[in-house]
Amino acid sequence: MINQIEKTTEYLIEKGFDKPEIGIILGTGLGQLINEIDIIKEISYNHIPYFPTATVEFHKGKLIFGMLEGKKVVVMQGRFHLYEGYTLQDVTYPVRIMEKLGIHTLLVSNAAGAINLNFKKGDIMLIEDHINLQGSSPLAFNGVEKMGERFVDMSAPYNAEINTKFKNIAKAHNINLHQGVYSSVVGPQLETRAEYRMLKIIGADAVGMSTVPEIIVANHLKLKVAAVSVLTDECDPDHLEPVNIEDIIAMAHKAEPDMITLFKELIKSL
Ligand code: HPA
Repeated sequence: MINQIEKTTEYLIEKGFDKPEIGIILGTGLGQLINEIDIIKEISYNHIPYFPTATVEFHKGKLIFGMLEGKKVVVMQGRFHLYEGYTLQDVTYPVRIMEKLGIHTLLVSNAAGAINLNFKKGDIMLIEDHINLQGSSPLAFNGVEKMGERFVDMSAPYNAEINTKFKNIAKAHNINLHQGVYSSVVGPQLETRAEYRMLKIIGADAVGMSTVPEIIVANHLKLKVAAVSVLTDECDPDHLEPVNIEDIIAMAHKAEPDMITLFKELIKSL
């Protein structure tokens, strides 16, 4: 993998990805932040050597380099998911590339279901901790110790300083920002009522199909990292309504302006 990472990074540097400081991963239905960026270069994932190929059609699947609030950023518009058949190493490969390009901070967004029923669809939740329910680790491979520590500390995976900044920005802009625990599942099926009940019992506030692998690898690489969930559905096991992916995307779009404000103001403050 080390060799491939070097080749991918060399390719991107050659194409003009010149020392980004901050990496951003945009989740399902949350791609509009790129309209705020002065784009210097953008490349489809399928043109980048050794990158997994984008498959889900509503992901545009592009890596973007540009300026946002005076900072050099590299942005993933669309991410890779386990449910598309990728491995955990595939899913997190771009995080390793962004780190090699030079980022010190990674900001992540996703769409998630609200397990905590005090949270409503369309609300935003700052992730303070997580529960990995994807059955494995992106660090469970031979040779991981050559790329960093194997037994990565997870006592504080989300950067407290950044989270404090997010909370202050939310207050200043009248954004109702919840805080909570995100649990990651494989998907692509949504959860049963019994599974939602279990998630609540074990201490989850939200559930989604991404983010945790990227956070683990960001910690492996000692990046500062923070993540925000847009809550797209209410997972009430006693009154569960069928959801479909179109509803989830529509709800993500509804919360998107607030998420854009949070990310822009945060980047301005870094
Ligand atoms: N479960 C899992 N992933 C999700 C959900 C959900 O309810 N909503 C959005 N992503």
